[in-house]
Parts: sequence; C-alpha cells; structure tokens
Amino acid sequence: MSVPGTTTAMIFHHATSWRRGVTGAITALLLLVAGCRSSSGTLREFDVTAAPAEIPLGEGRVTKMWAYDGTVPGPTLRVRLGDTVRVRFTNHLPQPTTIHWHGVRVPNAMDGVPGVTQPAVEPGASFTYEFAPKDAGTFWFHPHVRASEQVERGLYGVLIVEDAEPPKFARDETWVMDDVLLGRDGEIYPEFDTRHDLAHDGRWGNVLLVNGKSLPELRIAPGERIRLRLLNTANGRVLKPDFGALDARVIAVDGLYVEKPFPIGRFEMAPGNRVDLDLTAPPSLAGSRVTVKDRFTRREIDLAEIAVAGDPVTTPDLAVPAGARLAPDVPATSSDPPRLEMRLNAVAGGPLGIRWTINGEAMDRDHHDHAHTRYPLPLNEPSRVRFVNESYRLHPMHLHGMFFRVLARNGAAVDEPFARDTVLVHAQETVDVVAVPADPGVWMAHCHVLEHAESGMMTLLDVR
Ligand code: C2O
Ligand code: CU
Repeated sequence: MSVPGTTTAMIFHHATSWRRGVTGAITALLLLVAGCRSSSGTLREFDVTAAPAEIPLGEGRVTKMWAYDGTVPGPTLRVRLGDTVRVRFTNHLPQPTTIHWHGVRVPNAMDGVPGVTQPAVEPGASFTYEFAPKDAGTFWFHPHVRASEQVERGLYGVLIVEDAEPPKFARDETWVMDDVLLGRDGEIYPEFDTRHDLAHDGRWGNVLLVNGKSLPELRIAPGERIRLRLLNTANGRVLKPDFGALDARVIAVDGLYVEKPFPIGRFEMAPGNRVDLDLTAPPSLAGSRVTVKDRFTRREIDLAEIAVAGDPVTTPDLAVPAGARLAPDVPATSSDPPRLEMRLNAVAGGPLGIRWTINGEAMDRDHHDHAHTRYPLPLNEPSRVRFVNESYRLHPMHLHGMFFRVLARNGAAVDEPFARDTVLVHAQETVDVVAVPADPGVWMAHCHVLEHAESGMMTLLDVR
C-alpha cells in the first residue's frame, strides 16, 4: 500500500467536510486503488507553498507577484518515470486555490479542479497531491481557481518526468515563456478579466519573460547539442518561436515524443503547449549570436539570445527516443463520426459582461459543477471530438486527463505525427481530434485562454 495513513485520513476528512461527500469518498477509494497498484519506483516528496512574493523581473526593480516557493517561474520538480510524486501543498495566498498538473495523466482525484475533483484549498490550508506519472516528458502545474488572475500573478511551475534512461544530451535546459501586463508603476496591472480581454484573445502582456527575465542569454558551444524544453504559460498569447540559423528539431509535443523529429518551422505554441527541442549550434555559427524571435503576430518580438561561444565540441550522434507509447493507442486516423461536438462562441451577459460558451453553455467560474452538462465518453474507446469555432477569436482547447491527435482542420485531413493535450482552434475554424481516454472520472475540457475559461468556456467530460 503506497498511500500512507496520513494522506488517507486527510482525504476522508475532506470528503466528510465537503458538501459532495459521497463523490469525495468514492474518489478517495479510487485513489486508494490507484495507489495500491502504482509506485514500483521511488517516492519523491516535495513541499510547495503558494504565497505573495517580491520578484525581480529585471532592471533592478521588484514586482509584487504570487509565487510557488518564492520564485517565478516556481520550482522545477524533476522525477523519473516510475517514481511516485507526493506534493504537500500549502496555500498562503489571500484566495482559495488548487494545483492542476497540466498534461499529466493523474488519478482523477489529483486533478486539482475545484468542486469537481477536490474542494478548493482555502487560505492557510493544505492539500497533498500524490500520483505516479504514466508518461515521461515536460509538464507544468498551475492553479485552477481564478486562473486568469493567479497564473498572471506568477503561479506556475515545471514538472519534468525523465525517461527511465534519459537520452544523452550535453545539457537539459528549460524555457518557461510568459508575458505579463505591467502598469506604469511596474506592478501587475490589477484589473483582471476586463471587457477588452474578454472580447479579444485574453490578456496579452507588455513584457515577455523567459524564465522570469526579459531577453535572457543562453550560451551554447559551437557544435554542442542540447535538449531545450519550451513551455508557453501565458494567459492568452500564442508564440511561434523562430530559432534562425540554429538546428532546432521538435522531439516532443506536450510532453510526449513525436513519431519522428521534425524542424520547428512555424510551430504555433498556444497557451498550455510544450515543445522539446533537439537543438544544435552549427560550428559555422561560432562567435555569433542568434536572437530567438516570436513570429506569431506581425510585430516580431525578441524572446531570448543564444550566444554561440566557447571551444568547439564535436556534435554527438545520439539516439533520440521517438513514438511515445500511449496505452491504449490513440489512432492517427479515424472515419468515425464525432461523438461530441463543441461549438465555441460568446454571448453578452454574466458577471463579466461577456460569457464564452461551449454549446451555448457557460460554466460558473467559482462553482464548476453547478448543474453543468457532463458529456459522456466511453473508457478505452476512441472518440472523435469536433471543435467548431463560431467566433473570430483564438481558442486553444485543452482536455484534462488524456491525450488526443488532430485528424482534420476544416474537413481536410491533417497528419500530425504526435499526440497533444492542447490544440489551437483559429477564428471560424473546425478542428477534429480523436482521444482514447484511459482514466475514469470527470475531466475538464476548456479553452486555455484563461480569460475565456473564467468567463465560461469550460465543460466536463465524464469518462466511464
Ligand atoms: Cu493548464 Cu485546465 O489547464
Ligand atoms: Cu478561448
């Protein structure tokens, strides 16, 4: 039995104190069952605290933010595939919160969705998350309560699950890419979910941050070959990073290895997406600098500098793993009709003035389970899901608890040689995906433009 007495007691305590006690107890039992069969490996324990903090964002200034363990980005939790992760989380924020493990296939009770998988963690309270990741890769974690405010204020961290035998890159680097909207006073602009943000693609900041810094520099030796993990943790901004003359190949998307590496080209990273690069500095670039630019909008933005400097090294020939194993397999093609269609649109009204809806329904931002539709999806069976964007805004659609593959855009077949957990649906576009959910429970589906989600663009999938 890997779930210790304290955790069990705590879960049952929550279950009894919680108005949906029966569901809680059932979830706790499911967790116990999951706990019994997992954890062949090591138990990795972490303490994570969310609290206000003063963060130096550059130019000798500090900004009042909210942070996990006092830093933005928060800590990088690094474990190995097979390990069990236990995070004792404490909330010292002035608001309730939770942690959601984005992209990680966790037992449903560990998914961090308030009112659905757990009660929100109140100020001063704690909650213990425990799970054994099923997939190696690059993941992240963030709150799922008032996310448009809490993520913007700085609450996000990285979870790296190493392969049992990691490929032998010279280095393993991570770039957490975010933008923040600062006021003239250098502080986080304190109005959230504004009408402007809601009517557009969410809150786009005026300062771009990579690992909490503007335009940081990464040094690579001529010939050196590294793994660079990119994450887009912005509220709404889509990034299309251009690595210029560097040799940048995508080896993983949203954590999972691709079938075969491909050049990053024009890959669009929507909020939530991750891309792992196999990055080599060609020896011909020795002594030069490459500015990595975002080219998603017409006005390109400098993200980071790569200085190709130092003594040249011989580029190693290494075997990069490919074709992540998902069980059950998510098919690359399907002729099934959609089992579920999600029409994405907005209506006037609601507490924020605009409601973003899925099939005409907006989720209550503070009570996710209030009389909300739960769309059934069969366990371990392929389901085609169709996103129909009836609006002119961007909607990066994210499913919790499962990966999917993109089948078609506007009815034309696309062949994406990888699975994802978030797909960008452009203005007036229809995107078909196929998922094979392998974990029972009520999972959230939502737009990862956090202002859209907060104003209603969230729904529930009932996998059984
Ligand atoms: Cu990163 Cu429900 O999301
Ligand atoms: Cu959206």
